Amino acid sequence: MENVTLMIDGKKVTVPHDYSVIQAAKKLGIDIPALCYDPSLEVVGACRLCLVEIEGSRKLQTSCSTKVKEGMVVQTETEKVVRLRREILQLLLDNHPNDCLTCQKAGECLLQRYAYRYDVKFREHDGARKTSLMDTSSPYILKDDSKCILCGKCVRTCSQVYDRKVLSFAGRGFETRIVADADFTLEESTCVSCNRCVTVCPVGALIDKRLLGKTRVWDGEIKGVKCKACDYGCNFEVLSKNGKNIAVRAKSPTEGRPLCLKGRMTTELLYLDNPETPYKKENRKFKETAWKEALGLEGVLEKILVEDDKK
Ligand code: SF4
Ligand code: SF4
Ligand code: SF4
Ligand code: FES
Repeated sequence: MENVTLMIDGKKVTVPHDYSVIQAAKKLGIDIPALCYDPSLEVVGACRLCLVEIEGSRKLQTSCSTKVKEGMVVQTETEKVVRLRREILQLLLDNHPNDCLTCQKAGECLLQRYAYRYDVKFREHDGARKTSLMDTSSPYILKDDSKCILCGKCVRTCSQVYDRKVLSFAGRGFETRIVADADFTLEESTCVSCNRCVTVCPVGALIDKRLLGKTRVWDGEIKGVKCKACDYGCNFEVLSKNGKNIAVRAKSPTEGRPLCLKGRMTTELLYLDNPETPYKKENRKFKETAWKEALGLEGVLEKILVEDDKK
């Protein structure tokens, strides 16, 4: 593959010609802030936080959607870039609940991380601020629209799997929201609780509900495991505290892995000290279910019993 060489923040880097500037910067260890970019998703250039200066270009460019070129000279943290990033972050915070103290996402939230990095704070203002807009209908996902920054990652990841495409944007301007199907709750919708959307959400707008109140990233240990339910081997994490495995959560579905509820349930049962009750959706209602049903083993067990009877 053809390579190109460019300069980023005074350092030379050689990368494949189809790399974006943000990918080339990453190779140098330069962390350009990005809210809507994810290497496994279609690039949309929506949040504009990744703006950089490119020599010869009058306008700032989004580094996630700008491809590298031979001889390109890029600056990622100039005064102008930093000023714009601060403005973008301030607008987001002005429209965001001040809930970092109790938010389950604290410590992993990208909005929190960048606000700290660029010293942007919550402030009083006369304009509207989104208040709590929670969908608590799912036992697996807590959806809080008041924390959503409309990056669209959830919509893009949900639509990557054939037959899902549950999430979309609805409304306009300040009223824009992410909705499930025709603005149903997650329970009423066709959502299959795979948690793909939760794994890519950069803020606390989509939270793994089975983790709520149990632990946070800095509190305890996290171990990566592979799902054993099928050959894809999706990545999960087991979270432990005080020597007990207390929760499981899905990791981002990179490399074409689909993620599914059955995999999540299998991983919970295999690793957790006290697995919680599993739930299954039937006729668009969640109901408690037995583990063999949650794992899709019911038919298999019945078949084994019938075979045994014949002997
Ligand atoms: S989503 Fe992030 S910024 Fe918002 S309250 Fe939670 S931790 Fe704080
Ligand atoms: S849990 Fe899966 S199916 Fe449901 S909205 Fe999220 S990505 Fe789509
Ligand atoms: S719910 Fe999360 S991933 Fe989806 S648009 Fe909002 S912030 Fe982005
Ligand atoms: S990360 Fe580039 S525009 Fe959002």
